[in-house]
Amino acid sequence: MRIKTVFSRFLVAIVMSFMGQTAFAANNASTQSRTLIIYFSQPEGMKPDAVDGFSGASVLQKNTPETGSTQYVAQLLQKQTQGDLYRIETTTPYPRQHEALLRAAEKEQQTKARPSLNTPLPDLSHYDTIYVGYPIWWYTMPMVIYGLFEQNDFANKTIIPFTTHGGSRLADSLREIARRQPKAKLITRALSLSRDDISHPDVPAQVEQWVKNVQPQR
Ligand SMILES: Cc1cc2nc3c(=O)[nH]c(=O)nc-3n(C[C@H](O)[C@H](O)[C@H](O)COP(=O)(O)O)c2cc1C
Repeated sequence: MRIKTVFSRFLVAIVMSFMGQTAFAANNASTQSRTLIIYFSQPEGMKPDAVDGFSGASVLQKNTPETGSTQYVAQLLQKQTQGDLYRIETTTPYPRQHEALLRAAEKEQQTKARPSLNTPLPDLSHYDTIYVGYPIWWYTMPMVIYGLFEQNDFANKTIIPFTTHGGSRLADSLREIARRQPKAKLITRALSLSRDDISHPDVPAQVEQWVKNVQPQR
């Protein structure tokens, strides 16, 4: 009788410990984000205190002069995917005045500059899906985005680009990314939104629908 009781207690303990482990694994998997959103955005006339950090940024409901167009799309993506958000900031800040910014970007392109980052990129090994957003500058990606794809390894990761622009849409960016990251899975159904449409009330739904079409299912 006593042996039976000890044995059944032993069985209960094993079952409970197994259930505990399963619950931990499920909980761990659900809290572990595998999606990263990297973006570069240079709103003109931006106030310094409008700059958000890596993750945890408040999600703005609409575009304001302090929020860049690409930044706004990145925030919508973060809200929908629950991914981590990383904003690219360069060690040398860009001018906020339009003409000066145009000239600075032009010079970077002419000199094939690769601006350095203010804060290190998150460890890409923690992610398998990486959205990368940027404005089109002078008919291509900003030079800092060239640096991103040249200096980091995206092999076996899904890269999902998105751009905002004044008419050039994706420009040559998909080809330039593919050239630099041949081992990545590049989603070519990239999103490109005109800066003129960015404040339209349909944009959040449009972004949501696009994510449903491109986000890999796990
Ligand atoms: C330096 C510079 C160069 C630009 N060059 C182009 C271009 O070649 N083609 C285009 O469609 N838009 C161009 N634009 C417009 C931006 O792509 C557009 O305003 C974008 O939405 C800005 O995004 P942001 O607010 O996130 O920085 C340029 C803007 C700047 C500041």
